[in-house]
Amino acid sequence: MLGTGTMGQGIAQVVAGAGMEARLFDVDSAKVASAIKAIASVTQRVVEKGKLTESARSTLLANLVQTSSLEQACDGIDLCIEAIPERMELKISVLSEVLAKSPSGVIVGSNTSSLSITEIGTRLGIPGRTVGLHFFNPPPVMELLEIVRGVGTEESTLTRALELASALKKTPIVVNDSPGFATSRLGVALGCEAIRMLESGVASVEDIDRAMELGYRHPMGPLKLGDLVGLDVRLGILEHLHRELGEQFRPPSLLRQMVRAGRLGKKTGEGFYKWTADGVAIAPPRLKLPGLS
Ligand code: 3HC
Repeated sequence: MLGTGTMGQGIAQVVAGAGMEARLFDVDSAKVASAIKAIASVTQRVVEKGKLTESARSTLLANLVQTSSLEQACDGIDLCIEAIPERMELKISVLSEVLAKSPSGVIVGSNTSSLSITEIGTRLGIPGRTVGLHFFNPPPVMELLEIVRGVGTEESTLTRALELASALKKTPIVVNDSPGFATSRLGVALGCEAIRMLESGVASVEDIDRAMELGYRHPMGPLKLGDLVGLDVRLGILEHLHRELGEQFRPPSLLRQMVRAGRLGKKTGEGFYKWTADGVAIAPPRLKLPGLS
C-alpha cells in the first residue's frame, strides 16, 4: 500500500481484513505508524458494536506490516496499490522507483480519482499491468470498486482486479479510461453545482444538502460529502476535468478560496461545516437570501 492518507489507510484496512498481508509505505514514516494506530482504533469500535470478533481484529492487525523503506515494502509483492497525492509527475516518479524494486510482473493498481490510467501505464512502460483500482471513502464501508481499464491494460490484469474485488467483498464496475471515469465525473458535477448554488444564495449549506438527502435519499448531501472527501481533493479533480472536458467543470471560486484558506473539510476541522473531533458535522447558520426579507 503506497500512501497512508485517508484512502491508503482505509484500503489497507480492507485488504488486511480480507486476510491478505498489507505492507504500508509512506515517504513520511511517522504517517505509517499513525495509520496503523488509527486502524487499530477504528476496528476496536467495530468490535464494540459486535460487528467484528476480537480474534478477526487481531488477525487484521497482524496482516498490517509497517515498512520504513521502499525496498522492504516492495520485496516479493505481486500488487502495488497506489494512493498518493493526485499529481501525475509524483505518481510516475514514485511508481518508477517501485517498479525498480519490485519483482518483475508486479501489477500497479492506482486509486487515482480521475487521472489517466493509460498515461500512467504508458509512462511506466507497463501499460498491460496497470489498472485503476478506485475505492470510495470510507473504503471499509463503501461497496463499490471502480476498475479502470487503460488502453493497454491486459485481460489477465483485469481478471486479477476482478478477483481482488471479490476477495475484498466489493462490487466491481469496469470502466474504460476517461477523465473522472464514471464516479468522479458524476460526483463532482453534483458537488460543483451545489457550491455554485451556495455562491449565488439559492439556499443554505444545510438545506442544499437536505435537498439531496431527503429528496433523493443520498446518504449525505454534496457539500458534506465534499468535506468528507477533502475540498483540496475535490478541487484537484475539478481542475483536471476542466482541462480535459471543458467549461462545465470550471472550479467555483468559493472552492478555491476555501482551499487557499486551509478549510479542507473534515480533515482540518472546517469546510462547509465545522467538524468535531468525533466526526460530527455542525452546519453554519442559515443564509439570509438576497432580496428576501
Ligand atoms: N471501518 C469499519 N467500519 C466503519 C468505518 C471504518 N473505517 N467507518 C464507518 N464504519 C461503519 C460504522 O461502524 C457503521 O456500522 P454499522 O452501521 O454496522 O453500525 C457504518 O459504517 C456507518 O457509519 P456511521 O454510523 O458512523 O455513520 P453513517 O450511518 O452516518 O454513515 C457514511 C456514514 C457511510 C459515510 C454515509 O454517510 C455515506 O455513505 N456517505 C456517503 C459516502 C460517499 O459517497 N463516499 C464516496 C465519496 S467519493 C470518493 O470517495 C471517491 C474519491 O476518489 C474522492
